[in-house]
Amino acid sequence: MTIRAAVAGVGHYLPDRVVPNSEFEKSLDTTDEWIRSRSGIERRHFAAEGQTTSDMATRAARAALDDAGMTPGDLDAIIVATSTADLTFPSAATMVQAQLDMNHGFAFDVQAVCAGFIYALCNANALILSGQAKRVLVIGAETFSRIMDWTDRSTCVLFGDGAGALILEAVEGEGTAEDRGILAADLNSDGSFRDILYVDGGVSTQTTGYLRMEGKEVFRHAVEKLASTATTALGKIGLTGDQVDWIVPHQANIRIIQGTAKKLGLSMDKVVVTVQDHGNTSAASIPLALSVGKQRGQIKPGDLIITEAIGGGLAWGAVVLRW
Ligand code: UT7
Repeated sequence: MTIRAAVAGVGHYLPDRVVPNSEFEKSLDTTDEWIRSRSGIERRHFAAEGQTTSDMATRAARAALDDAGMTPGDLDAIIVATSTADLTFPSAATMVQAQLDMNHGFAFDVQAVCAGFIYALCNANALILSGQAKRVLVIGAETFSRIMDWTDRSTCVLFGDGAGALILEAVEGEGTAEDRGILAADLNSDGSFRDILYVDGGVSTQTTGYLRMEGKEVFRHAVEKLASTATTALGKIGLTGDQVDWIVPHQANIRIIQGTAKKLGLSMDKVVVTVQDHGNTSAASIPLALSVGKQRGQIKPGDLIITEAIGGGLAWGAVVLRW
């Protein structure tokens, strides 16, 4: 008998304000056509004034709990992947815990920028496999609109806000690739690339800062590293790209998504794509895509899913799971 961390529920939340590309034409030297053709993004959601990451995370969490038919009392732990927590401390995860009226268990944040949800899934998986938790709520939530330089057309048109949540539960498996749940993972980082994607502020510099990115450089690393980490993760459980039902990639740029699918030998009809509607929501993009993919009827029980992401660090990785 093998313990697996299997998906028990999924949900998401997007703030009400939808901003089409045309909005940026009013204040920047840019066009809807440029943004669409270079990134695939058509619109994104922005949080309302005063709306925080933990507010959105809690709404996504409630949707996932409803989907699982669970209450906060059923959870042992909460992990929030975010780079835009409400406060320096306490963690966004403990704020979610409080908003859910949950006084037991434990909660903490994971910060691996756009790869954050992959890292959080691996943490949750480890907690379940080691017997420290049976049910873990894993959330990706971001308010990247708060760290945009609205005068920088090369970054501010690309990002959005939102939250997605997944509940992982300990189930019994056979130890084969036919099991439900997380089957394999691969994590990587290389801090020597810190200068191509970062925020130029933080607590120890007493500023908040803005996101800075050398887009072309990040793009160049993205396709190669994402295809490589996905192949490595699949290989750990003896699988190859052609056995995958769905790729659920980090939603940064449609050209990166297409390039990665091509390298894995998969056609675009096996890819869950939400970048046109959400923009890049960093750590929230994968759980948002999983939830929307399920709502659309794309992801079904038993499907083999590879999910992968790369972001600031650089940090990147992939998780193989059977839904
Ligand atoms: O989630 C974390 C990971 N992040 C990513 O994966 C993002 C990776 N990078 C990208 O998605 C792409 O590199 C971008 C979408 C950011 C940019 O696309 P690109 O094809 O690499 O364009 P570029 O940066 O080479 O810029 C091409 C031109 C430049 O003008 P010149 O120098 O050729 O005259 C830019 O100044 O496009 C210009 N440009 C714009 N033009 C109109 C840059 N931003 C804009 C804009 N509107 N918003």
